[in-house]
Amino acid sequence: MQIEAASQDVDLADATLIVGMMDGLEPLPGSEAEVSSLDSAMLAAVEFTGKAGQSAILPHPTAKAVVIVGVGDELNFESLRAASGTAIRSVKTERAVTLLSQVDIDEAGRAVVEGSMLGAYSFRTYKTDDESPVVESVELVGVDQDELGASIVVSEATNLARDWVNTPARDKSPETLAGLMATAATAAGMSVEIWDLARITDEDLGGVLGVAAGSDRDPRLVLLTYEPDQPVSHLALVGKGITFDTGGLSIKPHASMMDMKDDMSGAAITAAAAIAIARLGLSVKVTCITPLTDNAIGGDATRPGDVLRPKEGPSIEVLNTDAEGRLILADGLVLARGYEPDLIVDVATLTGAARVALGDSIAAVFGSDSETASLVLDAASRAGEEFWEMPLFKGYRKSIDSDVADIKNVSASRYGGAIVAALFLSEYAGDGLWAHIDVAGPARTRETVGELVKGASGVGVRTLVELARALTEDGWERPVSPSIPV
Ligand code: BES
Ligand code: MN
Ligand code: ZN
Repeated sequence: MQIEAASQDVDLADATLIVGMMDGLEPLPGSEAEVSSLDSAMLAAVEFTGKAGQSAILPHPTAKAVVIVGVGDELNFESLRAASGTAIRSVKTERAVTLLSQVDIDEAGRAVVEGSMLGAYSFRTYKTDDESPVVESVELVGVDQDELGASIVVSEATNLARDWVNTPARDKSPETLAGLMATAATAAGMSVEIWDLARITDEDLGGVLGVAAGSDRDPRLVLLTYEPDQPVSHLALVGKGITFDTGGLSIKPHASMMDMKDDMSGAAITAAAAIAIARLGLSVKVTCITPLTDNAIGGDATRPGDVLRPKEGPSIEVLNTDAEGRLILADGLVLARGYEPDLIVDVATLTGAARVALGDSIAAVFGSDSETASLVLDAASRAGEEFWEMPLFKGYRKSIDSDVADIKNVSASRYGGAIVAALFLSEYAGDGLWAHIDVAGPARTRETVGELVKGASGVGVRTLVELARALTEDGWERPVSPSIPV
């Protein structure tokens, strides 16, 4: 989709005009003139009241049509973005001109770009009939060019992550997915390394090898680097890339397995965010590490009771092969530490427990210390993504003491599962600043609403880009010694 700036007197002849109203039929600032010319009887006839999520398509004297969208009773970045998403899906012409960007709030342009590009997203690769949104270009009235450009980059990255996650597991073997990531990263000017099975073996990535042992498809590890001139700081990203999670020999029931092509969301999100950061030219060095492997049930699959040795750190007794994400992340985190970043952030669809705790809309955040968690939470809040902090409660650590190895991959109790998983990861993340984001709930959207389209959400891409922006700020200083909460 083409997105550009437009002037007030843009030609509307073949376009759909998008205008907005608040709940109670108050026109959106910037849409007043157009809204006042709308036929109020017609609005009443389509039961349009301005509530969030409502939209109606009406005739217009000069444009092909007008789409009016409800913003609800609060006008802010999120409500404007959601309204832009709802509006764009109602457009029946190739061209749309939106007045929503004229609203006088911070980053209105960004909200409209994100809403339009993310809301019009449609994954059609496997569809025979083309029912994708017809709109091909959106013109924003009254938008700042820089804001426009940056918002497009971030929205494209989010949709790129969505494409990867939505792709069926059959068509994204570790090899294929690594290739897709490499192509996109190379185009963004990053340096790319793909480690194959031989290299992964040489590097002693015992966690990755243990998970990959059950699959006929070999694992890969993708290493993307973006190095600007004089970076202010260095961010390492680690993403869980399970290309399909059967659960392994601790096999999942069929209903839980249906969505498991999503299990490489962390890899998709971190790689897409790194690509966006590179394209934006931010002054932060980024090292992105994504181990990619199936978790399958072949004859040589890791068995419950087997012991794995990641590159460094505690040896692991695998008691449940379905807790595989932490096994590959152990290697990923150890590798990340080796590059001596200022901050490591991992993203993973790690635990059903995080989804139980926070539901389908909110990501769980854990930090090595409260400042680091706040850095991520603040970035999420600036990006308009829902993140919530969870405690890295040390009291649960002994539940993964192993009789046989240094640590086991699951505790006997399923309670507090997201915390236990985070504690497991902390064993490999080292003593530096580290945050862990569990997106098991929000990685997939279950209902199309606002800028969210049913299927992969790409949640986290925008937060990671915001985080990188924060790390470029002069005066960003690495806290001297993180205080680990108890
Ligand atoms: N990929 C799953 C977690 C998941 C669940 C993601 C639901 C998205 C939606 C992960 O590998 C897993 O299976 N975790 C287990 C851990 C348990 C065995 C300790 C889980 O959550 O059940
Ligand atoms: Mn699993
Ligand atoms: Zn998994």
